[in-house]
Amino acid sequence: MKPLVVGTLSEDEVILEVKDLSVKRSGNLILKDINFSIKRGEFVGLVGPNGSGKSTLLLTLLGVLRSHQGSVTLYGHPPLSNRLIGKIGWVAQAAANLPKDIRITIRELVRLGTINGKNMFRISDGGRRKRVDKAIQMVGLEDVQHRDIARLSGGQRQRAIIARALASESEFILLDEPLVGIDRESRNSLLKLLDQLCHDEGKTILMVSHDLTAIRQTAHRMIFLEQTIRFDGISDEFPDLVQLANLRGIGAVHDGTDHADHHHHHHHHHQKEEE
Ligand SMILES: Nc1ncnc2c1ncn2[C@@H]1O[C@H](COP(=O)(O)OP(=O)(O)O)[C@@H](O)[C@H]1O
Ligand SMILES: [Mg+2]
Repeated sequence: MKPLVVGTLSEDEVILEVKDLSVKRSGNLILKDINFSIKRGEFVGLVGPNGSGKSTLLLTLLGVLRSHQGSVTLYGHPPLSNRLIGKIGWVAQAAANLPKDIRITIRELVRLGTINGKNMFRISDGGRRKRVDKAIQMVGLEDVQHRDIARLSGGQRQRAIIARALASESEFILLDEPLVGIDRESRNSLLKLLDQLCHDEGKTILMVSHDLTAIRQTAHRMIFLEQTIRFDGISDEFPDLVQLANLRGIGAVHDGTDHADHHHHHHHHHQKEEE
């Protein structure tokens, strides 16, 4: 048995707990009765059709959106608690998440990850440099670290953003569609990197993707969301598309609506067709 070091978290520690969560946006109920928890070291894929509330869920976990009902608990604290500073990392689509008008190198971007409200004046220059070096090395961008981010491929850009989250030493990393706009090869190596982060670095990952095949191969567990959770289980047992269609049909019967309560233009399309 491994000795329990003070300050170290045990393997089966629950990092995220969501209970009876409902979320409204502009008066519409977007998420309803969400219940799940995530343990340390898990790699969870969050999937669902466009408009099903995946990003809304992530934003609620981060504390950007408020719950209408129910609760979110991270490391035993509510979102936005001071105790969570530096623990949670957020990675969104590369295109949406990078400054476009300022010139900045990969290394500088990653360095930004070492700055937060808690450590601003505490980390030494050397400590910061070490973290940045390690993060850049982990994502394999050593060779291009002094290159302007405007001159990167989609895959490199996504890696740079992940390196920024790594430099912040966040333990729980939330990724929203990080695979969009990157080629197949970069996609596979990115998934491999994320998998390694879970296994070797003890990170916990919750990743949104509409690339079912890709995420199913990598994530240990899948959650299918469509206003509420319609599947939550190990990836091997994730239903195929036909079963999913039935699952969705059943759901619509069960909650007695045909989703008219949050009827939005692209709700019934699959993201794949739109992008
Ligand atoms: N700012 C907003 N105000 C009101 N409704 C919103 C807002 N943003 C998104 N929505 C709606 O919330 C639903 C879920 O959106 P989102 O969480 O972005 O879905 P996903 O990430 O699964 O594609 C959609 O019906 C969308 O139209
Ligand atoms: Mg989204």
